[in-house]
Amino acid sequence: MATENVTYSGEKIFKDAQDFLPINGTDYVELYVGNAKQSAHFYKTAFGFQSVAYAGLETGVKDRVSYVLQQDKIRLVLTSPLKQDGDINAHINKHGDGVKVVALWVEDATKAWEETTSRGAKSYFEPTVEEDEYGKVVRSGIHTYGETVHVFVERKEYKGAFLPGFKEWKSDYNPSEVGLRYIDHMVGNVGWGEMNKWCEFYAKVMGFTQLVSFDDKDISTEYTALMSKVMSNGSGRIKFPINEPAEGRKKSQIEEYIDFYNGAGVQHIAVATNNILETVAQLRERGVEFLRVPEVYYDDVLDRVGEIDEDLEPLKELNILIDRDDEGYLLQIFTKPVLDRPTMFFEIIQRKGAQSFGKGNFKALFEAIEREQEARQTL
Ligand SMILES: [Fe+2]
Repeated sequence: MATENVTYSGEKIFKDAQDFLPINGTDYVELYVGNAKQSAHFYKTAFGFQSVAYAGLETGVKDRVSYVLQQDKIRLVLTSPLKQDGDINAHINKHGDGVKVVALWVEDATKAWEETTSRGAKSYFEPTVEEDEYGKVVRSGIHTYGETVHVFVERKEYKGAFLPGFKEWKSDYNPSEVGLRYIDHMVGNVGWGEMNKWCEFYAKVMGFTQLVSFDDKDISTEYTALMSKVMSNGSGRIKFPINEPAEGRKKSQIEEYIDFYNGAGVQHIAVATNNILETVAQLRERGVEFLRVPEVYYDDVLDRVGEIDEDLEPLKELNILIDRDDEGYLLQIFTKPVLDRPTMFFEIIQRKGAQSFGKGNFKALFEAIEREQEARQTL
């Protein structure tokens, strides 16, 4: 099945998924950060996000400031506190900058809240109507792993820039987009022995189904290991891999994350592009740093993945990785952490039929991460 169909049709493609929580897509991802103004500048300059909306003192919000950025279907919200104390400060103090909200776009946020809380989800907030001159939005929220939450957003009666209370953000500084299109998947890191519990949460509370599972034999190097299962909603639009650390001779990258994030949280956001060569060339030029695999990776990669449309040389130059499954192949690359703590990073992915996650690259990739860990003295 082509990527387009999987990503943008609402049709159920995984028969084991339940129908009680239809999700149209990711609505927004909100990060709590120490300095939203500067983070917004970074995501515009480095990643090509566009200015969309703003809330803060000028719009009557007294305790926080939020910048909303967008690139095609990917919407980021960057929020910082304006006062001491409070939940946002506590979140930043504990976790550093990180993802607080993975918001999901639904037709009915009240029903989404009822269906999930009645199946055991802990409420973050009850269905709430917000209104302004552009219409109304209904939102509700539930807790997931760590201090991360899902907010359900019902916006069919809303025409404004983002949400009631936000004003359109017109900026004089508008670096061009880099071809990022939509969120392909978002990965959560959870603590030792917690992967199954959270996969069951997504199955039972949200009706997701398990696509694949990787154990420490798939995902281990000489030194470190992790385990992973991928949960998806029925349409395949929302995919949440869940990782947990596994025992190795040295410290798992997941354990390093948990140590610095002080608990479970979002590890990476994978964003899709239609032209990874152009996107990554742009990102590199704008200062985004990527993990590097050694050049020998390219010596036999075509023996492993077979024929591909692209020339190998530019892929090698940009250090883009290749993998194949039964349905096709994919091209992917991973940034270094984009925050001070070694926590969250981005994956850039171009799918050419393949619906998997790059299992064939795990070893080369994790060895690259270990070299970074070694430099951080956290291996
Ligand atoms: Fe990924």
